[in-house]
Amino acid sequence: MPLTVQNSNEILRKILAAMRSVPPQVYAPGDDTFLMVDAIATVSVEGKNVLDLGTGSGVLGLYCALRLAHVTAADIDELAIRHTADAARLLGVDLKLVISDLFSNVPSQFDLVLFNPPYLPSEGVHDATVDGGSGGRDLIIRFLEELPDHLQKNGSAFLLVSSLSSPNTLPNGYDNFEFSTVAKRALFFEELEVLRVRLRNDLSI
Ligand SMILES: C[S@@+](CC[C@H](N)C(=O)[O-])C[C@H]1O[C@@H](n2cnc3c(N)ncnc32)[C@H](O)[C@@H]1O
Repeated sequence: MPLTVQNSNEILRKILAAMRSVPPQVYAPGDDTFLMVDAIATVSVEGKNVLDLGTGSGVLGLYCALRLAHVTAADIDELAIRHTADAARLLGVDLKLVISDLFSNVPSQFDLVLFNPPYLPSEGVHDATVDGGSGGRDLIIRFLEELPDHLQKNGSAFLLVSSLSSPNTLPNGYDNFEFSTVAKRALFFEELEVLRVRLRNDLSI
């Protein structure tokens, strides 16, 4: 079932309390993270196979695990995975944790894939938590190329995008996907959006 704002906030509070502090090298929960939580609150995840890609502090994966999803949390950064493992232990939830460059070590398929990517336009990647390469989209493009192999039938992805990386042009060249907006928030210097990405083949059935 989708969650009420009150129930969703309660789960989030529990996670943040269990985390206490996030190591400085690991991405700490921010406005983007919380917008993803708002988006996930709108769908039922109980019993679903969920992949939290680029898990960082682990908030999104832990949030789904506390809502009884079967969660795999992956990150390229070993420290992020260790931090998420500690938080999961404190919360008494079970997650599958994998060090992985995008989907490389997660060969399975999922009902829901979550990705809040590093999206700041950058020359090269100096900080993997925020640098998104050229136009902020290098990783997003790789993600969309690889996504179809990792979605169960009728599966979908929630992808966070920012006005800083020209999200309106994202669907160009991806006719195989349907993009829709699940959540949106205007901040001081950017607008964040969570896009739901689904394969058109699934929609026609
Ligand atoms: C903006 S942070 C989001 C963290 C967390 N999901 C959240 O919403 O707070 C992006 C995360 O992606 C991870 N990341 C960067 N490049 C990656 C890659 N190639 N494969 C997997 N994870 C990656 C970073 O280490 C970081 O934890």
